[in-house]
Amino acid sequence: MAKHSVGWRWIAFHKRWLLILLVIFSISTAIIIIRAAFDSCDRHYVEEGNNNRVPISSPIGNNLQSLDFMKSKLVLLVSHELSLSGGPLLLMELAFLLRSVGAQVVWVTNQKPTETDEVIYSLEHKMLIRGVQVHSAKSQEAVDTALKADLIVLNTAVAGKWLDAVLKEDVTQVLPKVLWWIHEMRGHYFKMEYVKHLPFVAGAMIDSHTTTEYWKNRTRERLGIKMPQTYAVHLGNSKELMEVAEDSVAKRVLREHVRESLGVRNEDILFAIINSVSRGKGQDLFLRAFYESLELIKDQKLQVPLMHAVVVGSDMNAQTKFEMELRNFIVEKKIQDRVHFVNKTLTVAPYLAAIDVLIQNSQGRGECFGRITIEAMAFQLPVLGTAAGGTTEIVVNGSTGLLHPAGKEGVTPLAKNIVKLATHVERRLTMGKKGYERVKERFMEQHMAERISLVLKEVLQKAKSHRHL
Ligand SMILES: *[C@@H]1O[C@H](CO)[C@@H](O)[C@H](O)[C@H]1NC(C)=O
Ligand SMILES: *[C@@H]1O[C@H](CO)[C@@H](O)[C@H](O)[C@H]1NC(C)=O
Ligand SMILES: *[C@@H]1O[C@H](CO)[C@@H](O)[C@H](O)[C@H]1NC(C)=O
Repeated sequence: MAKHSVGWRWIAFHKRWLLILLVIFSISTAIIIIRAAFDSCDRHYVEEGNNNRVPISSPIGNNLQSLDFMKSKLVLLVSHELSLSGGPLLLMELAFLLRSVGAQVVWVTNQKPTETDEVIYSLEHKMLIRGVQVHSAKSQEAVDTALKADLIVLNTAVAGKWLDAVLKEDVTQVLPKVLWWIHEMRGHYFKMEYVKHLPFVAGAMIDSHTTTEYWKNRTRERLGIKMPQTYAVHLGNSKELMEVAEDSVAKRVLREHVRESLGVRNEDILFAIINSVSRGKGQDLFLRAFYESLELIKDQKLQVPLMHAVVVGSDMNAQTKFEMELRNFIVEKKIQDRVHFVNKTLTVAPYLAAIDVLIQNSQGRGECFGRITIEAMAFQLPVLGTAAGGTTEIVVNGSTGLLHPAGKEGVTPLAKNIVKLATHVERRLTMGKKGYERVKERFMEQHMAERISLVLKEVLQKAKSHRHL
C-alpha cells in the first residue's frame, strides 16, 4: 500500500468536510476532526505491576499541570516510522503535551522511505511549528541528544532496532532512562532482535491490561526474558474530538450529510464497523452477523426501522482479495442496497456522527486498546464488541454495549445483539449515554496525561538514582 496515496486521499477528504464545517463554525473547531487512529492502543489510566490500578478521579479541565515537572526536561522521542497510523500519531500527541508544559522535545524517525513523502513532510512540519526539533535518526545530533536526554521514549516494539544500530557501544549507558511504549500484540513482534534490551530499560508502557499480561507471558515463555516495570496506560480522547462529539449542531450537519451520501434516511438505523479492512478486524464475520440479523427480523416478523451497515476502512489497493470476498458476499446475499463501503480515512468524526451503533469486531486477541471504541462512546454510541483485548476494558457488557465471542461462534450472538439494539430504541440510547459518561470519567486526554505523568515521574526518578550510583 502506498502511504503516499492514502495521505492524499485523506487530505482531499478532509478538505471536503472542512468546507462543510466552515459554514457552521470556526476553523479551530474544524481542525478537530482530523485525528483518530485505526489500530493501536490507547492510554487512560495507569496500572503498576499487576493489580494496584490507579483510579481516575480528577476533575475534567484543560490544565495539564500533572506534567509540570517535565518543564525544561530534555526528551528524545524515537518513532519507528512516521505515518498516519495509530502509533506515530500517539507519540506526536505526547510530543505536543510535553511541549505544552515547556519540555524540550527532540523527535527521530527510525525508518523513512528514501523518496520524499507528503505525509512525512506535513507531519514533520506540524511538529516543527510546535517547537519539536526533528533530527535524522542516525545523525550525531540524535546520538548526542540520547546521551544528554533526561528521558528517551521508544515507540513500538520495532523501534528497538534503533538502539544498537545508532547508539552502538553507548546503548547500556542509555537504557536506564528509556521508557518503552508498546502498542503491538501480534506474534511477530516478539523477536529478540527488537526486544532484547527490554529487560534493562527503566519501564514499559502498554495500552491495556490484557496486552500487558500477554507481553509478560510471551516474553517469559517464548524469549526467556523478563519485562521491566510495566505500566498499563489506557488512552484518552483528544479535546478536538470531544468538541465535535459535544456539538449537537455540528453532529446534526455531519449526520445528515453522511447519511445522504450513503443513501440512508434519518429514520433508518445504521451500524458501522470502522477499521482498516482486514480479516483480523472481522468485517467478514460482521457482515455475516448483519445478514443473519436481517433474516431473524424477517422470520420473527419484527417491527424495526430499515437497517443499514457501513464498512469504513476499505482499501482496494491493499486487501483486494479479502475485500472481494466481502463484496461477493453481499451480492450473493442480495444486500447490496443495505451495505455500504467507505474508503480508509482518518476522518472518523463524520461517520461517528452519522451512525447509531459501532461494531468492534476485532478477532483473535482483539485490539491492543481500540481507540475507535472510546471515540464512538464519546458520540454516545453503544458498542457491540468482541470479548477480547482492550475492548473488555472499555465496554461494560450490558451497560455501555454488548460483548460477543471472537471467531465464528460470535456470529450468531452478534446477530442477536444487533436485533436487540434495533428493536429496543430506549436501551440503545441509554447505552450510548452510559458510554459517554464512562468516557468523561476515564477516557479523556487529561486522564491519559495524568497517568502518563505518573509513569514519567517514576522513570525519571529511576534514571536519576541510576546516575548517582
Ligand atoms: C498468562 O499465563 C498465565 C499462566 O501461565 C495464564 O493464566 C494467563 O491466562 C496468561 N495470560 C495471557 C494474557 O495470555
Ligand atoms: C476509494 O478507493 C478506490 C481505490 O483505492 C478509488 O478508486 C476510489 O476512487 C475511492 N473512492 C473515493 C470516494 O475516494
Ligand atoms: C454479556 O452479557 C450478557 C447478558 O447481558 C451475557 O449473556 C454474556 O455472556 C456476556 N458476555 C460476556 C463476554 O461477558
